[in-house]
Amino acid sequence: MTTDRKMPKSFYWGNSVSSMQTEGAWQADNKGLSVYDIREETDTTSNWHDAIDEFNRYEEDLNLMQKMHMNMYRIQIAWSRIVPDGDGEINEKGFDFYDRLINAMLERDIEPMVCLYHFDMPLALAKKQSGFLSRDTVTAFVKFGKAVIDHFANRVKYWITFNEHNLYFTDEVFQISGYTRAEKSIDHMYTIFHHTMLAHAEITNYVHDNYHELNIGGMLAYTPVYPATEKPEDTFAVRKQSEFIYENINSLFLGKLYSPEVQQYIDDNEIDIDWRTQDNETLSATYPDFLSFSYYRTMVLDAEPIPEYEVPNRYMNHSIEINKFLTHSEWRWNIDPLGFRNVITDLYNRYRIPVFPIENGIGIREHWDGENRIQDDNRIQYHESHIRAMKDAMFIDGAKVLGYLGWGLIDIPSSHADVEKRYGAVYVNRTNHDLKDLKRVPKKSFYWFQSVLSQNGDNL
Ligand code: BG6
Repeated sequence: MTTDRKMPKSFYWGNSVSSMQTEGAWQADNKGLSVYDIREETDTTSNWHDAIDEFNRYEEDLNLMQKMHMNMYRIQIAWSRIVPDGDGEINEKGFDFYDRLINAMLERDIEPMVCLYHFDMPLALAKKQSGFLSRDTVTAFVKFGKAVIDHFANRVKYWITFNEHNLYFTDEVFQISGYTRAEKSIDHMYTIFHHTMLAHAEITNYVHDNYHELNIGGMLAYTPVYPATEKPEDTFAVRKQSEFIYENINSLFLGKLYSPEVQQYIDDNEIDIDWRTQDNETLSATYPDFLSFSYYRTMVLDAEPIPEYEVPNRYMNHSIEINKFLTHSEWRWNIDPLGFRNVITDLYNRYRIPVFPIENGIGIREHWDGENRIQDDNRIQYHESHIRAMKDAMFIDGAKVLGYLGWGLIDIPSSHADVEKRYGAVYVNRTNHDLKDLKRVPKKSFYWFQSVLSQNGDNL
């Protein structure tokens, strides 16, 4: 066992975001509309028009990241900024913004990682062809992806295609793929998954064929599940559920085709996934340079099916409970650092390629009184315990880890546009319905990150 737990010099520490949760400027410089831009605000959620206005304040945000000693920032390049209608002409002004942003990162020794899709389907494609239900959307996305990669290959070394790719097998699939038809059928669900899988493979293969120095990987939402009891049915349900995580890795990232279990399900249910002969070649040529994932929590599964569950997929219809052995956040997300170690070690043991946790953090409701520092000790505790667990995976279990990126470390609206669920070490002064001054205010955890990262995490 390595006793000094000294982190590799090349280790990446950083922040991770999506475009619509950060940039704002929803109509600036000819940006097209995405499916997010037309969502209305509600009593408890904002619209997506302003986010934290990083489009205009990126210098200030990067300065804060630099002060925290971060050396990586994972951003997304929004499809609708580069190709306003998803499938037409390139909008050079869209590139101008990301040129400015990425150059400003490099000037501060912050390595960019770029994600190409975070559920924000260009509205025109959602309306015209129901997003990834159509193979034409695969063609359009691959065209966009190649244009972005060609443009930034000299400056961006780390790439991911789809954020949280395994969610395409959950109830969110129809929303996140830009699907607009009312009918939710199993044929459509599997077709969407297959299409996103092809898009991922085509882009990955393009990078490997043309840019040997770049790293491209797939990205999962990794939420491990524990059986609720020792009832064999609960463990059976957990295995079924987990199959979709491994199915994703095997098929998407390692070029293997569908597992026997999933294939059997496709055959038995006569599911038409729009399979074409050439797909085999595309998919089997694919491999990842690293395995990246988001990790926030673990869940507990009970085999009892949820009768009203909307998803036409028998693998996922199980009740979810909180874990009585763990504490949890206000949003009932179990806090489980050991689960984090398990994921890292398990992924590395199975696949022997570097793993990269690129989202981790805890959502907390916080209020700034305009004067005093926010004392977010529970956030510090969360990150400290997870970083320690990651180091256990590295130094006790022998896992190779490329870096650790926290999610939304400058506050951003949560995935449901609730600004009050905050993940940041920096407070952003706005609420769901009042943009206020969007002032950035470091919390106590900012100084904690600053101290830990300045020592490359060696003190934990
Ligand atoms: C990830 C998503 O699943 O989790 C993000 O990639 C999201 O978009 C993050 O914000 C945290 O989830 P939430 O719902 O708390 O914002």
